[in-house]
Amino acid sequence: MKDMLTVALIFGGRSAEHEISIISARAIYKNLDRKKYRVLCLYVSKRGNWKLVPSPQVPANQLRAGRSFSFLPWDGRRTRPAIKADVYFPVLHGPYGEDGTIQGLLEMADVPYVGAPVLASAIGMDKAIFKHLLSRLGLPVVPYLVLYEKDWKKNRQHLEKKIIQELGLPLFVKPANLGSSVGISKVKNRKELSPAVKLAFRYGQKILVEKAIKGREIECSVLGNERPRASLPGEVIPHREFYDYADKYLEGKTRFLIPAELPPDLNKRFQELAVASFQAIDGCGMARVDFFLEQGTQNIYINEINTIPGFTEISMYPRLWEVSGVSFSRLLDCLIELALCRHHLKKRCLERT
Ligand SMILES: Nc1ncnc2c1ncn2[C@@H]1O[C@H](COP(=O)(O)OP(=O)(O)O)[C@@H](O)[C@H]1O
Ligand SMILES: [Mg+2]
Repeated sequence: MKDMLTVALIFGGRSAEHEISIISARAIYKNLDRKKYRVLCLYVSKRGNWKLVPSPQVPANQLRAGRSFSFLPWDGRRTRPAIKADVYFPVLHGPYGEDGTIQGLLEMADVPYVGAPVLASAIGMDKAIFKHLLSRLGLPVVPYLVLYEKDWKKNRQHLEKKIIQELGLPLFVKPANLGSSVGISKVKNRKELSPAVKLAFRYGQKILVEKAIKGREIECSVLGNERPRASLPGEVIPHREFYDYADKYLEGKTRFLIPAELPPDLNKRFQELAVASFQAIDGCGMARVDFFLEQGTQNIYINEINTIPGFTEISMYPRLWEVSGVSFSRLLDCLIELALCRHHLKKRCLERT
């Protein structure tokens, strides 16, 4: 018994992916091996308040009811229980979870936590910086332009012309710092460009405009610290024109092919590029890397990296590991080991200074 570890699951959170985070946490809670772990459950409300709950299985109205507390030390209310765990497991997707903010809090507290550290999380959340970085390393990304709201307001006509000239049509317009397909549009003619740009700017002052790629959507799971491994790739077949918010969360008609049907050389190429993307951001623990495979040319483009991917029992990340020989429970063991290992190494380096 003395080797039991206490794992604190942190779930819910302030992003649009609050509900999906609860479902991910339920799957993790269910699959954590109780011979090895005690589990503490920390629910984060949509407003950012925290609450210790018996499990993520409790109904949503009970999660929200009762007293919660602010985690901020300057908040002043004395309702904060002591939360002590051997390792923390943030299962928070999107902003204020996957973007380095909670990771910063856990670094300040000097505790081990699962997944990418601050820098990798922040880069993974910023599609523009991620693409700049990959381009610099010679990794394949879709032709893109980054736009700032202040420039768009000043030079709209010039920028419209430049976008069409450099990227052609159709295009994709998306906020730089969001997930879940929120604020994303496909633009088929020049008339649609300005409304799409305006919509994306509703979610932030920086957006991306990209050439639309016609082809297949392939995803690959990565696991590890210094020597990351990639799973077999999987394929997402959107039900609608693209994998939009409704398709992701409301309609459930998307099809997943796990693993994807690809020739062995392409499987290998996706795996290499997934690991290269993970290493480019200095990733740790886990990430899911998403690609486009262009119809006709068979060109591969890296689209994005998710450092806290969907983790429900039917999510791509754990299912790709399952078909690659790592069960859900074993995957959780690995992530916890990787978290403890990284923390240990960091402490050793700090002691040397
Ligand atoms: N350049 C592109 N070409 C083709 N389809 C795209 C492109 N960019 C985005 N999409 C479509 O939009 C979906 C969501 O875009 P993505 O960049 O993955 O944002 P999110 O972080 O919201 O998932 C993709 O899964 C894909 O279906
Ligand atoms: Mg995506």
